[in-house]
Amino acid sequence: MFTQAALQRRSVRNYSDLKFSDALKAQIAQAVKALIPLYDDAVTNFKFCPANMIRDEIKGNIVKAPYYIIVSAKKADGYLENVGYMMEQLVIWLTQNGIGSCYCGMGRPASGSDISDEYCITLALGFPSEKEAFRTAPEQFKRKAFESYLLGDKENDFLEPYIRYARLAPSAINAQPVMFEMAGNAVHVYRKKPHFSKLEKMQRIDTGIALSHIFMYAREQGYHIDYFKDSNTGNDRYIYFISLNILEDSNE
Ligand SMILES: Cc1cc2nc3c(=O)[nH]c(=O)nc-3n(C[C@H](O)[C@H](O)[C@H](O)COP(=O)(O)O)c2cc1C
Repeated sequence: MFTQAALQRRSVRNYSDLKFSDALKAQIAQAVKALIPLYDDAVTNFKFCPANMIRDEIKGNIVKAPYYIIVSAKKADGYLENVGYMMEQLVIWLTQNGIGSCYCGMGRPASGSDISDEYCITLALGFPSEKEAFRTAPEQFKRKAFESYLLGDKENDFLEPYIRYARLAPSAINAQPVMFEMAGNAVHVYRKKPHFSKLEKMQRIDTGIALSHIFMYAREQGYHIDYFKDSNTGNDRYIYFISLNILEDSNE
């Protein structure tokens, strides 16, 4: 279940040496194929890479792990948000299967790497070592108060659980930049303007990750999401990304 995995997930930075079986690698490849993009025409590449080959592809500060998935994508509107949206579905799937992972935002392509399209981010993965077990209680999340994720109305019984699960989503340097505005069954999604421009790319990915929690929660509840762009364009502090309506599946 998404809800259970979202409550258990944590960034895993210590891994055991246990190798993945070929069957498990095939299952991961299958899970990647089943990821649902935000845009039907998005081109996103997931390249599986064992630790002994990662330095041929990625340099910089990345978490030490037995495996990596290098994610790149064709540049288009919302491509980084889409990367976060797809990757977080994978992260939840991995969690459900006892596999730990950590987004690595500090890497960059090594010279001579054969990464296609635009490099976005790398995911470290593997079986967690003993002391890096998954979370067992909600208090273990270091997150801002629920209300500080909201612009405008603070009360909406229907939408509250959606935002509560979005709040558990990971974000680069735990900055938690994504903000929500609740309006009936609709949610408008924004992110705070980053303090320094280097964070821009990562915070676009953060936005897709948080959105993906809303999507996965809706799916589990038997709802689906219709995305739309509102005339709303944000302001000096908040950058508008997208809006969504949460609808019963029978309305399809
Ligand atoms: C886009 C993105 C980039 C990240 N980059 C790194 C990184 O380079 N190194 C690292 O150790 N953790 C990285 N993280 C993990 C965050 O630090 C972590 O998600 C955050 O502190 C919240 O903790 P949690 O994931 O355990 O809930 C990244 C997370 C995201 C979403």
